[in-house]
Amino acid sequence: MIRELRTISRLCDLIYLVMEFFITLIQIGGTLIAILLLMAIIGLFFKRFRKMGLITLVGLVLLLTLTAVYFLSPRTYDRPYLAQQAQWEGISIREAATEAGIYIGAAVHSDNLYRSELLNSFNSLTPEVDLKLGHLFENEQVGTYDFSTADSIVEYALSNGIRVRGHTLVWGKLSAMFKAPDLDAYLEDFPEAERSSILKNLVDTHIKTVLSHYKGKIPQWDVVNEPLEIMGDGELEENVYLKYLGASYIADAFQLAHETDPDLQLVLNEILFNYQDERAEGFYQLVKQLQADGVPIHGVGLQSHILYTIPSIEALRVYIKRFTDLGLEVELTEVDARLRLFGDAEDPYHAQAEFYGELVQTCLDNPGCTGITFWGISDQSCWMDGQMIFPAPNEPFFYDAEYRMKPVMRVLATILTNAKGSRETIHMVEPATNADSEL
Ligand code: XIL
Repeated sequence: MIRELRTISRLCDLIYLVMEFFITLIQIGGTLIAILLLMAIIGLFFKRFRKMGLITLVGLVLLLTLTAVYFLSPRTYDRPYLAQQAQWEGISIREAATEAGIYIGAAVHSDNLYRSELLNSFNSLTPEVDLKLGHLFENEQVGTYDFSTADSIVEYALSNGIRVRGHTLVWGKLSAMFKAPDLDAYLEDFPEAERSSILKNLVDTHIKTVLSHYKGKIPQWDVVNEPLEIMGDGELEENVYLKYLGASYIADAFQLAHETDPDLQLVLNEILFNYQDERAEGFYQLVKQLQADGVPIHGVGLQSHILYTIPSIEALRVYIKRFTDLGLEVELTEVDARLRLFGDAEDPYHAQAEFYGELVQTCLDNPGCTGITFWGISDQSCWMDGQMIFPAPNEPFFYDAEYRMKPVMRVLATILTNAKGSRETIHMVEPATNADSEL
């Protein structure tokens, strides 16, 4: 039953996406499509207009198909930045970021970890997948831990003086799709009356085991990730945790994380599509309520995957301030803006870089905004690639697929250098000696 419900809910998400696509089309191609549609409908209901209706219907289908093909087919843009590589040699974002007192991070996995580009450009890193529930379980067996891959990332970061963000302890979304065990399916093997306590035990053990393992190594954790319904208006997602543990699963996770290690900075992380709709408001209210209830929450993570439209920077500025006014810290935790969204610009690569510059400047302008993490290093691999809803080129990172610097490097280097001294310099993690970093 639960499985069926999940399938139905995914189907609804898909239908919603398709609808959104057509709504966007109507907004873009607008009136022409609307008129054709109207003519087709008239033809359907009035016999004397049937022929006209049929012809317009065929025309409409053709038009929509062509438009869909146009939107979904990959595009390429010129790369004027290639001519500037020699001039940019020696640019170091990392040092400038540290001197400007901000974390500039990247999501890493074991394949892109040991690259000089990581050391050159980032003073923070987030394991992209390796600290997630399913990835920590040995052979995906629930409750059996194998930290080896995650350890190698954390160890490498510490030995190079890079901060690590912990991502993530409790994440209800897409658990079956992304190598996290499908906890719903797992729980179905147990009698219904026992499922809540089994899940509670699993979550509590997980939080305690992982935080104890990384005590003193990872200072900041996304305790709960994406608690909101992805296409909703700010309501909690109907995930396995909400179903079996109730809405208090969020507060409980923070509480236990705090008890396990009171030194940690505990963050609620969410994907938002802009910073001013009902959903964004719902996230703010959720955070405010947690704080009012005395839950040990210290910061929020605004993921900032820029997927469909470019959000208003001014709205972001206001939104960040609403959280910092509550005394919370803010980080942009998973930034990637699809290149295609800048396709109308004369040089999309440059426009993308300028946009990143605005993001970083907005964060720098508020001392409570402590860092920005980009969700990868090079365009060689990006989580959106290959998914039909994100037609290429996505290319959201600092380096292109051949690890050549993109314009964002120059833009950020300038902004960060200018910001030097504007806030306290970050006291970077001292590169660990072998003895310190035994994991
Ligand atoms: C994504 C990773 O980038 C992919 O490699 C993985 O297959 C699935 O997860 N929001 C999050 C991140 O919080 O953990 C997701 O990362 C992207 C969306």
